[in-house]
Amino acid sequence: MSDDAVEPVKLPDKQPALRVMPMPADVNPAGDVFGGWIMAMVDIAGAIPAHRRARCRTATVAVNSFVFKQPVSVGDLVSFYAEVVSVGRTSITVDVEVYAERDPENPVVVKVTEATLTYVALDDKGRKRPVPPA
Ligand SMILES: CC(C)(COP(=O)(O)OP(=O)(O)OC[C@H]1O[C@@H](n2cnc3c(N)ncnc32)[C@H](O)[C@@H]1OP(=O)(O)O)[C@@H](O)C(=O)NCCC(=O)NCCS
Repeated sequence: MSDDAVEPVKLPDKQPALRVMPMPADVNPAGDVFGGWIMAMVDIAGAIPAHRRARCRTATVAVNSFVFKQPVSVGDLVSFYAEVVSVGRTSITVDVEVYAERDPENPVVVKVTEATLTYVALDDKGRKRPVPPA
C-alpha cells in the first residue's frame, strides 16, 4: 500500500505488552525509525506473555515472520500487542501486532508491523525445559 493510501484503524481493545515513543537516536538515514529498533521492541514485547506462560526465563529461538507494513516516525506513540498463539513441549509462539498513533492534533492509528516469534522455556542453567501446564 502506498503512503497516501494508509488505512487508519482502531487500537485493539486490550492492554498492550509495551507502549513506547521512539527518539531521534532511533532513526535511519532516511529519517524513519530504524527497523532494528522495532525488531528489538517486538522481541521484548513478545517475551512478556511467553515469560508469563512459561513461568521461567525464556530465550527467543526463532523469528518466524516479520512484516513492516508502514514506516514509523519519531513522535509516533507505538503500541505492541502480544498474544500466545501456541504452546509446544518447550516452546511458546507469540504473535505481536504493532500500531502507531500519529499526529496528536488530528489523531490517526496505523498498523505498522506484524510478527510471529517463538521462545523456549529455560531452566536456571540455560537448558530448555518443558512449559508447565496452563
Ligand atoms: C533455545 C535453545 C536452548 C533451544 O535448544 P535446542 O536444543 O536447539 O532446542 P530444540 O531444537 O529441541 O528446540 C526447542 C523448541 O524450540 C522449537 N524450535 C527450534 N527451532 C525453531 C524454529 N526455527 N522455529 C520454530 N520453533 C523452533 C522446537 O520445535 C522445540 O519446540 P517444542 O519443544 O515445543 O517442540 C538453544 O537453541 C539456544 O540457546 N539458542 C540461543 C537462544 C538465544 O540466545 N536467543 C537470543 C537471541 S540473540
